[in-house]
Amino acid sequence: MNGIFLTLEGGEGCGKSTQLERVAEALRTRTGREVVTARSPGGTAVAEKIRAILKTREPGEDLLPETELMLFGACHAQMCEHMIRPALTRGAVVISDRFTDSTLVYQGCARHIAPETVARVNEFVCRGTRPDLVLVLDIPVELGLRRTTGRSGGNTQNDRFDSESAAFHTAVRNGFLELARREPGRFAVIDASPSPEQVTQSILEAIYARLAIL
Ligand SMILES: Nc1ncnc2c1ncn2[C@@H]1O[C@H](COP(=O)(O)OP(=O)(O)O)[C@@H](O)[C@H]1O
Ligand SMILES: [Mg+2]
Repeated sequence: MNGIFLTLEGGEGCGKSTQLERVAEALRTRTGREVVTARSPGGTAVAEKIRAILKTREPGEDLLPETELMLFGACHAQMCEHMIRPALTRGAVVISDRFTDSTLVYQGCARHIAPETVARVNEFVCRGTRPDLVLVLDIPVELGLRRTTGRSGGNTQNDRFDSESAAFHTAVRNGFLELARREPGRFAVIDASPSPEQVTQSILEAIYARLAIL
């Protein structure tokens, strides 16, 4: 049986991490298949170390966009080789919370590295492993930011919604929608504003409609 590679994509607070296990569990129950969950960056020993570099601020030394791109690339290479390809070879369904389309959108659209450069790095590191279906969880930027404020315990400092971060998050949202417009066969845009239960249902419907998963 062939493995199936799914990714959950979208901006901050759209619900990717909330949906990951819910969707995985529903797929296990309905299909009886092995379902492996992953997250980018992370998931293997080396990839988790790279994640720590990407997430930690070093005082006085910013991570350059170029450095970010290379670190995400290194991380995805490790994930593909040591986690995703072995699982797909076993016939498993793999679902990843973010993957290379986030690199295209964040390092390309939002941090302004040439999209061709990001795409070449993605292809180089993945060696042909690419998602069969990308589920873009789409919500208005303000709703995503409200949700992440809730996630961080209602810290009121996060309520400041300065125009620069609004522009960044808008570029991210539009970046994902543009990718979906360009490759409608491989992307499904999911309205992620309803309740978690409804969003899970929409994701599952998109998966069952597009892929022979049973
Ligand atoms: N459909 C939803 N409706 C309301 N709140 C949600 C929904 N999905 C997620 N949340 C909440 O929003 C916050 C961000 O969700 P999360 O899954 O961490 O987003 P992401 O991983 O995409 O950044 C969390 O506090 C989560 O509980
Ligand atoms: Mg998350």
